[in-house]
Parts: sequence; C-alpha cells; structure tokens
Amino acid sequence: MNRWEQLTGGGSGERYAARFAELADQGEDVHGEARFCAALVPPGSRVLDAGCGTGRVLSRLARLGYDGVGVDQDASMLAVARRGAPELTWLEADLSAFDPAAAGVTAGFDLVVAAGNVFPLLTPGTEAAVAATLARALRPGGLLVAGFGLDRAHLPVPPALTLADYDAHCTAAGLTLTDRFATWDADPYDDGGYAVSVHRR
Ligand SMILES: C[S@@+](CC[C@H](N)C(=O)[O-])C[C@H]1O[C@@H](n2cnc3c(N)ncnc32)[C@H](O)[C@@H]1O
Repeated sequence: MNRWEQLTGGGSGERYAARFAELADQGEDVHGEARFCAALVPPGSRVLDAGCGTGRVLSRLARLGYDGVGVDQDASMLAVARRGAPELTWLEADLSAFDPAAAGVTAGFDLVVAAGNVFPLLTPGTEAAVAATLARALRPGGLLVAGFGLDRAHLPVPPALTLADYDAHCTAAGLTLTDRFATWDADPYDDGGYAVSVHRR
C-alpha cells in the first residue's frame, strides 16, 4: 500500500478536488505546476502526469494546448479526473510497474511531471523503480519535473526521502539534474523544505 493510501484510505478524491476548488475560489494560485511545465516545453508537447490524482495539472496543461496521459493508483482521484476531462487518457496503474506499451500508450513523452508530493507518498522502497519507470517513459532529452516536500512542514507524512536519495535514483535511471528551485514560481533553491527538481534524460 502506498503512503497516500495509508494516509487517506484511498477514497479522498472528492475531498481533494473540493479543497483545490475552494483555494481557487479564494483567489489562490492553483496552476503554478502547469505554468512551470508550460515554460519548459511548447504547446503540443506530450506530458505524462505521474501520480496525476484528480488530474488538476494535466487538465490545465490540456487547456493550454498540451497532449497527455495521467496515471494514478487511486480510483477515487481518477474518477474526478475522468469526470473533469473525459477527453484525456487516465490510467489506473502503479507507477513502480507502469509499462506504457502494455497500457496501449506510446512512450517518448516530452515531459513527465510528478507534482503534489508524489515521490514521498510512494510505497517506501519503490522510489528507484518509479524513477526508472518515469525515465523510460521519456524521449531522449525529455524532462522529469518533480516537486515535493522534504520536512514535516511541507509534507502530510513524516519525511523519508531526501533530495540526495531522489537524485541518486534519478542518476541510476539515466537522468541528469538540470535545475532545482524552491517553488513552482522558479524561486532559487535555498536548502529549504520544498524543492522542484528538473532532470533530463
Ligand atoms: C497528493 S496526491 C497529488 C496528486 C496530483 N499530482 C496533484 O498534484 O494534485 C499524490 C498522488 O500520488 C498517487 N500515488 C502514490 N503512489 C503511487 C503509485 N505507486 N502509483 C501511482 N500513483 C501513486 C496517489 O494515488 C495520489 O493521487
């Protein structure tokens, strides 16, 4: 069982979507992740939203002219994604064993995004396998973008994954760190409790 499922019981899709809708209603910026990705690759690029949840990042990117696929293990989250953007491809799968071809999806994505603490919420011990899956899904030169918390203030669970661990998994998967920021607005990374990392295949 992954840490997200342990935390939520696997039925939190509607609650998660409602929380973001409320933030948007309050005028909060809820599209930072999509904006960040859109600054890296042009419209028309193919994006894999890894741990897509309710699909909020990929749905936004699709409205900006991107094409893509969302993958998540939580059926309650995917139900919201499918309802909101039925024209997109949403797959229920475990990222540690995800094989695009077997799922009928062409690999060679231009960008893979893992937003919203996906890596710290994986089943402990599967981080290397997930990094390898995501690297394989990219075209040569494609980008893996992952944003996640590193301390208790930025995570809904006790921290277990360090940036050094994450970088080591990415390196083992054939990826090279190209950039690291403190926020989705690309503020410089400051050794703080949240990082947005960009690796290139
Ligand atoms: C906090 S949610 C983030 C959702 C979305 N990326 C966002 O930013 O709104 C974390 C997601 O990671 C997913 N997840 C965790 N482990 C997974 C795995 N092994 N395979 C697929 N999805 C996974 C969970 O189901 C959950 O939807």
